[in-house]
Amino acid sequence: MCGIVGYVGSEQAAPILLEGLTRLEYRGYDSAGIAVLTGSGPKVAHAVGRVRDLQAALPKRLSGKVGIGHTRWATHGPATEANAHPHRSADGRIMLVHNGIIDNATALRSELEADGVQFTSDTDTEVLAHLIGRSEAPALEDRVIKALQRITGTYAVAVLDAQLPDRIVVARQGSPLIIGIGDREMFVGSDASALVRHTSQVVHLDDGELAIVTAGGYETFTADRARTSKQPEELTLRADELQLEGHDTFLHKEIHEQPTSLERMLSGRLDDRFATARLDGLGIDARELRGFRRVKAIGCGSSFYIGQLGASMIEDLARIPADAEAASEFRYRNPIVEPDTLYVAVSQSGETADTLFAVREIQRKGGRVVGLVNVVGSSIARECDGGIYLHAGPEVSVASTKVLTHMGVGFALLALLLGRVHDLSYADGARIVAGLRALPSQVQQVLDSEDEIAVVAKGLAQSPSSFFIGRVRGYAVAREGAQKLKEISYQHAEAYQASELKHGPLALISPQMPTVAIVPDDELVERNLGALHEIAARSGPVIAVTHPGVEFGDLAAERIVVPHGEVELDPIVLTIPLQLLAYHAAAALGRDIDRPRNLAKSVTVE
Ligand code: AGP
Repeated sequence: MCGIVGYVGSEQAAPILLEGLTRLEYRGYDSAGIAVLTGSGPKVAHAVGRVRDLQAALPKRLSGKVGIGHTRWATHGPATEANAHPHRSADGRIMLVHNGIIDNATALRSELEADGVQFTSDTDTEVLAHLIGRSEAPALEDRVIKALQRITGTYAVAVLDAQLPDRIVVARQGSPLIIGIGDREMFVGSDASALVRHTSQVVHLDDGELAIVTAGGYETFTADRARTSKQPEELTLRADELQLEGHDTFLHKEIHEQPTSLERMLSGRLDDRFATARLDGLGIDARELRGFRRVKAIGCGSSFYIGQLGASMIEDLARIPADAEAASEFRYRNPIVEPDTLYVAVSQSGETADTLFAVREIQRKGGRVVGLVNVVGSSIARECDGGIYLHAGPEVSVASTKVLTHMGVGFALLALLLGRVHDLSYADGARIVAGLRALPSQVQQVLDSEDEIAVVAKGLAQSPSSFFIGRVRGYAVAREGAQKLKEISYQHAEAYQASELKHGPLALISPQMPTVAIVPDDELVERNLGALHEIAARSGPVIAVTHPGVEFGDLAAERIVVPHGEVELDPIVLTIPLQLLAYHAAAALGRDIDRPRNLAKSVTVE
């Protein structure tokens, strides 16, 4: 999704902007641009494609110490140079980069065009550049405030004025924006990764805030010019965490980081004495926890699927009703928010607009919502009423892998805690504590069988379409497996409950339609094998992801066997081979694994 970077200081701005944009590349985008205030006036360059294409398009002389840059993920209008940011006011004085969506852009555009303004792009953003350019307020920040008052929608903006070459004015409403503090230089970014090479001290703007950023510092305020006070925070992200370290892709690196990152996440969170979990960040004591009669997970995409997995863990261990819903739907259906429901917002980035707005809707209706979030200090993490940080480290690849595993473990910890304040016995609590402790080595065992999984993946890659099936706990695993394959290999994959096959999709089973079947060694194993009989009778090839000792006979041509632990936790380990299947299928097809087409890492638009 779109990325913003800005610099004001004593160094040349262009190389710093390009470096920041390169670090934002992982978010997914289709075009990029920068604007620099030089001694001979503002210079703006745009390019379709990668940051290296922008670098090639830069003017020869680009000497200036103030600038802004942007990577664009097309929403209004295709990926063209004309639509790439920065956008300019008609007189060229104002330059602007914007993340988010201006909902009333069409009406404002008609109004401006009727007034003689000629637009040069199809974007919603250009409206804002013209509104600021036409404002008669004396100070840049007042012009920005006046223009923003005319728009509805979401934004993070960074604005340059050619006549005020010492500053960047920034504003935030619904899209993240941070200010990086340097020594007589300041940075602006939509994402900490854009700033991490230069500073570890940052300030997060809140919704409704603006700031004037100069080389000497920053001043934050609201739209009515009331000063706000901000406490700088230490970035937890390190620049060396954003290196490939010998892997061919970030996805491969992130899959292999899991044993270590899981150890880190579990450290200090398992309580052997009381056979429970320590989750102080939730900020909910045992008595309050007992009062919750229901749990509802909300998230988008894969985070929603892991929410579904988490709900089944909570029902298994705590025996209270739990379910999951796509945050993107939840917020639009006037949801009934119950006071005795614990809502759990699930998000890697902590910036997904649909999830963030669902959190606000729950809070507006008086509900209690905690976050299961990876990015420290992100909007969802800050706005929730407590939570569990996932501590997976940065995830660069657009497709999520390690963070999803951490989400599964986060739900297991929450289920254990809720279980122990309800009716989960000490013995069962101790069994889950031991099971969680064993997870990193079980994940490592799956990773050790990567070569065999790669062979199976090469076969799967040849099929333009496949089914992923699972039952109860295995269904969420199947959904996530199908999602991963689709995202990075572009092969069609559809997840189904194994029990539902005979109610329709069986019609599609043929020798050309493989099925990846999740068959854990649990109380449903015979039922799962029954579904495989239905597939075998129609000559459908089966890849079984299973546990040692499950007897398939001729039912599955391929088997991927993973270690068997505690049944409630097994779905977490069962997702790991599906990550490797998707990775190797995508590699066999020569896909751009870390930056799949059309997708963005952090979906900050609705
Ligand atoms: C996962 O591989 C996807 N890229 C996507 O479904 C993602 O999980 C979803 O957009 C939610 O993102 P979040 O966890 O950052 O909120």
